Amino acid sequence: MAEPQASPTGTPAQDGDAQKGDGEARILFVGDIVGGIGRQTLLDCLPILRERHELTFVVVNGENAAGGLGITPKNADQLFAAGVDVITLGNHTYHRREIYPYLEGDRPIVRPANFLRSQPGRGTCVVERDGLRLGVINLSGNLYLRAGRSAFTEIEVAIGELGAVDHILVDMHAEATSEKIAMGWHLDGRVSAVVGTHTHVPTADARILPGGTAYVTDVGMTGPRGGVIGVKREQAIESLLTQMPVRFETSEEDPWLMGALIRCSGALRAESIEPVLMPRPRPAAGSTDH
Ligand SMILES: [Fe+2]
Ligand SMILES: [Fe+2]
Repeated sequence: MAEPQASPTGTPAQDGDAQKGDGEARILFVGDIVGGIGRQTLLDCLPILRERHELTFVVVNGENAAGGLGITPKNADQLFAAGVDVITLGNHTYHRREIYPYLEGDRPIVRPANFLRSQPGRGTCVVERDGLRLGVINLSGNLYLRAGRSAFTEIEVAIGELGAVDHILVDMHAEATSEKIAMGWHLDGRVSAVVGTHTHVPTADARILPGGTAYVTDVGMTGPRGGVIGVKREQAIESLLTQMPVRFETSEEDPWLMGALIRCSGALRAESIEPVLMPRPRPAAGSTDH
């Protein structure tokens, strides 16, 4: 599998590049990968989905890839080796310190663009496959999450950084549905897709907005449905019941891949978006889960 190439700042715009109308692409976006079980579920599901849908690009949110919180360089390398083109992140970006230099390197991994400029990493990247250039922007909501700057002002800077691209996918990592819906409308007609993450629960509102942008409030997570948004359910219940500190572990029960398939037609336009909700095809026995 060829390694994806990142171009953190994009290239200068060239006349007509974004107006050719031949930007047909199929983008699989995968929601928050939770722990080793989530990574293994992606590894098991991706070859099937790639063949079924003839995917052009695969973008995954990896903010929970390391034991449920953060991501390590080893986790990221594993995802890229599996054919992932871009990794997006969120509020758990900096949970593992060893990822900081990795975020500054040349791999296509992005943290919210509206974090402070002084924080490690970048918020945009461009990858190329089959002659198509995909720009990816990661944003954090400002309600109930720590993000140093407004998603709604910084998105303009982020789009400008991409340069000439065929498609733009925005991962809006946010708690509040209102912020995500507003961002969808704000960017309608200017980007190919606005997809929501962070709540780990898929919403039933995937649609193409009037201007041609694919939108969904949350695609869900890739991890154990048998827990409480990734955590072992008995621990989550104990915490809520006793109101005392409880050590949380990642559930391994009933893992599913959750995401969205976006079919793009012309440049910066989507023609369809559909949920992808897929149970892990193989049982955990004999796997490399860790
Ligand atoms: Fe999150
Ligand atoms: Fe998450």
